[in-house]
Order: sequence, then C-alpha cells, then structure tokens
Amino acid sequence: MPQLAYVNGRILPHADASLHVEDRGTQFGDAVYEVCAVMNGRILDWQPHLVRLRRNLGELGISLAIADGPLSLQARRLIAANGHSEAIIYMQVSRGTARRDHGFPGATPSNLVMTVRRFDFAQRLRQLDTGITVITQRDNRWGRVDIKTTGLLPNVLAKQAAKDAGAFEAWLVAGDTVREGSSTNAWIVKDGRIITHPTGTAILPGIARDSLITLARAAQLVVDERPFTLAEALSADEAFLTSTTAPILPVVRIDGAPVGNGRTGPVVRRLADLVWAEVARQTGWRA
Ligand code: PDD
Repeated sequence: MPQLAYVNGRILPHADASLHVEDRGTQFGDAVYEVCAVMNGRILDWQPHLVRLRRNLGELGISLAIADGPLSLQARRLIAANGHSEAIIYMQVSRGTARRDHGFPGATPSNLVMTVRRFDFAQRLRQLDTGITVITQRDNRWGRVDIKTTGLLPNVLAKQAAKDAGAFEAWLVAGDTVREGSSTNAWIVKDGRIITHPTGTAILPGIARDSLITLARAAQLVVDERPFTLAEALSADEAFLTSTTAPILPVVRIDGAPVGNGRTGPVVRRLADLVWAEVARQTGWRA
C-alpha cells in the first residue's frame, strides 16, 4: 500500500504531497504541530491533543478553518487509508503561503498537512527492562516552549548530541534546573515521590505527562510538580521520561552516571503498568 499524506483537504501519495516553497512554516518556523499515537487503529488521547493544538493556534493567532469534527474525520480517514494499526500521526498547521515578509500576511488561509508513519510501540515495552540513557545539554530555546511550534532547531541539535553520545535523549538544563528532554518530559523519583517540572512557559505540557499525573494520583501515588536540579536527578532513586512516542521509559544513566542502582526501579514499573493499562483501556492495544 503506498504511503499517503493529507494536504489541505486532499489525500495524496507521499511523493506528490507538498506545500508551496513560500510556506511560512518553512521560512519562519511559523507553524504548530501535534504528534499522536495510533494503536489498534485508534488515536490515543485524541481530545487532549486537539485541545493543545487549538490553544497553540490561539497563542500564535493562526486560524484553522476546519472544525474539530471534520478534522477528526480527516485524521481517521488518513490513518485508515495508510492501513497501519500501529502508527504515529503528525499534524502541522502553518500560517499559510505568502510572499516572504516577517509580519503576518493578510487574509491567507493556513496550511494543514498530516502524515502517518508505522511505529513499533512494543519496543517501548522491551525497553522497560533495559532502560535508556540520557545526556544533558544547556537549554538555549526561546521563552515560550509551551507552544508546540516547528521551530525545533535547539531540540534537533540536542537530540543529535545525544545520538552522537550513544544516548536516547538529551535533558535540557537551565541554570541547575532540569526542564525536559529534547522531545520528552523528564521525571525523577525520590523517597517514593514522583517529581516533574511544573507547566508554564519553560516546558511543553506533554499529553503523556498529564495522563501519567492523573493515573499516578488516582493510584494514591504522590506527584510533585516542581523544578528539580541536576544534582537531585543524579542522586534520585529512579528517573524516567514520557512522550507520545515513548509513553514511559526508565532512565538508568545520566551523563554516564547510574541513577539509583542503574536498573529499572519499582516506581517506574508500577507507573508503566498504569500507563499501558490506560492504553489498553482507550485503544484495546496489547503487545
Ligand atoms: N514531542 N517535550 C518536548 C520538547 C516535546 O517535543 C514533546 C513531544 C514532549 C512530550 O509531549 P507529548 O507527551 O505530548 O508527546 C515534551 C513529540 C513526540 C515530537 O516532537 O515528536
């Protein structure tokens, strides 16, 4: 089956799916995006992703003509057309196509594109046993990283630094505070308390982050949304990360130093049970 993409209302073969060279997403990073998990053919946490997309569009004053209902329908159509039951769907809305000028163009429609790519979620269950490693990088992003824009150059460079170091992720550190990963939220566990940076303007409010907080609290676990330092992370009992593409993964080394005993800990295992049970509840997906 050929890979298909959505461009402004049309479903096209990947090779023919393109935006104009003067799309503002390309020229200015003037675009927002969402990445959602598709398991068992169903989109996980679709409603929260829609809410975040609308909020981000609102923050930047980008209008999207298509309403939530038809947008959901088009996303589902594209998923079905691609025929993958396990996938990620990428959605991007730019301010539109216009002659290059920093100021907003007048009445220009936004550009909406969506792509779907097969994704192996079962690998994330296998990685629960091995754990993953992170390095640290200085957080040199702009001051509104709560808005999920395509202006991801600092994230790209940080992720590549992690790859070059043989690590899975780079944790972004501002002063001595660990904010989040280049494409994931960051967590530590100390004395049974689960700690993650509060939302605001310094991190992306992750959908997986929010879901995990809800699940943990419902299970009577204590979650503190507060900044934590790199020193705290290095002396934590456990650490982990969350995102759409990695719903929960144990972090067993930070900059080469083991976290706790350097193996997946009991709190992360408990949380992973909760997270994957929620996935099964919403989508029916099981490894
Ligand atoms: N990244 N922090 C950053 C900087 C991110 O880019 C992401 C998501 C997250 C986790 O958010 P969520 O739980 O909503 O996926 C945190 C996506 C997956 C990406 O850019 O591919």
